[in-house]
Amino acid sequence: MPNLSIDLDRALALLQAGELVAIPTETVYGLAADASQPHAVAKIFALKGRPADHPVIVHIAGKAQLDDWAQDIPAAARQLADAFWPGSLTLILKRKPHVPDAVTGGQDTVGLRAPAHPLAHALLTRFGGGLAAPSANQFGHVSPTTARHVFNEFGERLPLILDGGPCPVGVESTIVGLTGDHPTLLRPGGVPVEAIEAVLGVKLVHHEKPATAQMRVSGLLDSHYAPRTPLLVGPLDALAREAAQRAAAGERVALLHRSQMLLAVAGATAHAMPMAADDYARALYASLRELDTGGFDALLLETPPQAAEWLAVNDRVKRAATGWLS
Ligand code: TXA
Ligand code: MG
Repeated sequence: MPNLSIDLDRALALLQAGELVAIPTETVYGLAADASQPHAVAKIFALKGRPADHPVIVHIAGKAQLDDWAQDIPAAARQLADAFWPGSLTLILKRKPHVPDAVTGGQDTVGLRAPAHPLAHALLTRFGGGLAAPSANQFGHVSPTTARHVFNEFGERLPLILDGGPCPVGVESTIVGLTGDHPTLLRPGGVPVEAIEAVLGVKLVHHEKPATAQMRVSGLLDSHYAPRTPLLVGPLDALAREAAQRAAAGERVALLHRSQMLLAVAGATAHAMPMAADDYARALYASLRELDTGGFDALLLETPPQAAEWLAVNDRVKRAATGWLS
């Protein structure tokens, strides 16, 4: 993997020259380009195979850069930036006129986030500007949480992958919309909804689906974050029955279980998932990627707990799932 490195100088030079660099963040790896160069941002869409009208998040060093990209910034945005930046929270705000349409998908809003990963933070501080970066995966595929995952997606089509180790959060940032009358949860993620509500003193409006066709949040497409192998989700007893039937039919299946109950289904491979929600989030994408290359006919995943701290995990599981068993 000749393009893996921790060389910040090279990353800066490439970004300034309008090239793409994969960067670590605390949530997932991002595919970064200088947000002020439309032709550089266009390369992200070409490499990902992502529809051009999907907006990308602009990553900045900190709240001092908020006004470089957004205008009419409500007090709630500054409160949230004070409380959670650098960190796993993206704010959707009214954009400044100069923000390229390539970044916003032609919308009048911009998504801003100051990532906490030390390498990303150091890079952004030296860069000074904004880095447009979606997750560094093919459109619709599982997000990468290691530099090797990124290499597996794009190989040497990327000049540089900054290697910051495994991502400590493991699921994408929480996205909050602040352009309407009421703060809105657009995607659950690394920062818990309750923590955001505690800072704002109000509940977030939570839409299951985008309210209008103009609000294009690609993470809200039904099939997203998905492995290539069919992923079936359900309670452990249903999975065990399914596994036994499929094994009897000569299929190879993997069981992603969280229960400690001993699983011995002939022909099925057991894959233990972590007990705690934060550990589970950190492990989810890596587990799906690992098992996706295992030559299985199906992945059977035990439904995670439904408690509030599991919101982001359940959201990603729902989007990755091919079907449900009961
Ligand atoms: O944790 C993360 O957010 C990661 C890391 C790399 O920062 N990034 C990420 O990017 O997940 P991406 O592009 O895979 O997902 C970003 C989401 C998309 O659903 C996109 O549509 C939405 O943010 N988004 C970006 N700008 C937006 C805007 N102006 N209005 C509404 N949604 C926006
Ligand atoms: Mg993504």
